[in-house]
Amino acid sequence: MSGVADERFVSLRSFDGRAETLAEWAGDRGAPRLEARDVVFEYIPGTRVLDGWSAEFPAGSMTALTGPSGRGKSTLLYLLGLMLHPASGEILVDGDSVAGMRDAQRARLRASRFGFVFQDAALDQTRTVIDNVTETALYRGEAKRDARARARELLDRFGVDVPPDRKPGQVSGGQAQRIALCRALLNAPAVLLADEPTGNLDPATSVLVVEAMRDHARTGAAVIVVTHSPEVAAACDAEIRL
Ligand SMILES: Nc1ncnc2c1ncn2[C@@H]1O[C@H](COP(=O)(O)OP(=O)(O)OP(=O)(O)O)[C@@H](O)[C@H]1O
Ligand SMILES: [Mg+2]
Repeated sequence: MSGVADERFVSLRSFDGRAETLAEWAGDRGAPRLEARDVVFEYIPGTRVLDGWSAEFPAGSMTALTGPSGRGKSTLLYLLGLMLHPASGEILVDGDSVAGMRDAQRARLRASRFGFVFQDAALDQTRTVIDNVTETALYRGEAKRDARARARELLDRFGVDVPPDRKPGQVSGGQAQRIALCRALLNAPAVLLADEPTGNLDPATSVLVVEAMRDHARTGAAVIVVTHSPEVAAACDAEIRL
């Protein structure tokens, strides 16, 4: 871990404000890692899920997104994860808007810089657990043996003790969520977006997952976690309520 990342972490640990001041904190140190500006989104024309939403997510920080069911938290993660496009407004990565990018460019950016843990895990049912975890690393050209070794370490860390050649249809909901988190973390993404990653977990395993996300933010990533848990939100540097 670099000294810069350590310093950022120390600064953030001593920071006890809310999102607005966190944005100021980032402003002194260059562009935030991820930013939403005046984002408007509607699935059905005329019914706005987001009506001009803005926020900044600095490098080295972990932010909780909270709010009632149906308020638009998952939708927002899809927008921040470049999977949905705003009707107006824009998403910026390291200060650059992705609005003008072609789909292929956006997909490359997502594969190289983003990790996503979907609310329903979204594992590939046709592949084994270990192949699900290593999928993106192999796509990025990493040697299979290295990717598998790191995948096993991550699965161990989160206590996912199922045979690695098992299919996702034969694991529990909480195991599937942790497998999806391993898949996202394996690529050390600059932006980690996690949708209720502790939703199906017991308290002790939740702590492991939150600590891992904190550790990941400490390396300089922007971590954004949707949660209904006050404990998880309290472990974040900032909470944004929708
Ligand atoms: N594909 C879709 N088409 C139309 N409306 C949708 C679609 N997906 C979600 N919605 C609506 O958009 C709103 C936001 O949904 P979203 O899934 O983002 O909420 P959420 O805050 O993540 O909820 P939860 O806490 O239950 O996961 C909801 O009112 C939902 O009904
Ligand atoms: Mg949701």
